[in-house]
Amino acid sequence: MRRLGYFAVSIVLTLALIFGVRSFANMIFNARPPAKPAVEVPPLREAKAAAKQEAGGGQQQAEAQPAAASAPDAKRGKKVFNKCKACHFADQEKNKVGPHLVGIVGRPVASVEGFKYSGAMKAKAAELGTWTEENLMRYLADPKGVVPGNKMAFGGLKKEQDIKDVIAYLKEAAK
Ligand code: HEC
Repeated sequence: MRRLGYFAVSIVLTLALIFGVRSFANMIFNARPPAKPAVEVPPLREAKAAAKQEAGGGQQQAEAQPAAASAPDAKRGKKVFNKCKACHFADQEKNKVGPHLVGIVGRPVASVEGFKYSGAMKAKAAELGTWTEENLMRYLADPKGVVPGNKMAFGGLKKEQDIKDVIAYLKEAAK
């Protein structure tokens, strides 16, 4: 009888051990995976939301920039002038493919001595008079349209801001 009693107790203990281990294992394996997403997902979402907000803030800044940027900026204009550099000096009175642009704002059209302007440019000189900022704005946006037949092989600057900036640079560069 006693043996049976021990046997019964040992079985109960063994079962208890097995279930104990099992439920412990369940606790680990079942509980962990959900525990992770439950803990990690919300911060991730928050991070995304924060990133979105930042991006939104960035957009707002980007939207705000053109308004703030509409003031001509010679520094930006210097970069724009990279498109003109192959043909024009802005800071010294030497001609390249095109005439130098020293003092271009306020300079009479087609007036650089020794530069061979096209007939078209010379013909337009009387009409345009001087390179006022207004004339430059128009010409740089559409060289072929404003001076048809001129020999400046350049399609024009699409962005008004770029034109304003490059004019600001041209004024600075000659100083
Ligand atoms: C591929 C060469 C080339 C490029 C690039 C070029 N130009 Fe010219 N540019 C010329 C030539 C050539 C003339 C003279 C046109 C003529 O006589 O028909 C000229 C004329 C001009 C004139 C009139 C000058 C005067 O004395 O009346 C201005 C202003 C001017 N360019 C500005 C620019 C600016 C600013 C850029 C860049 C945004 C630029 N050009 C890009 C070749 C170029």
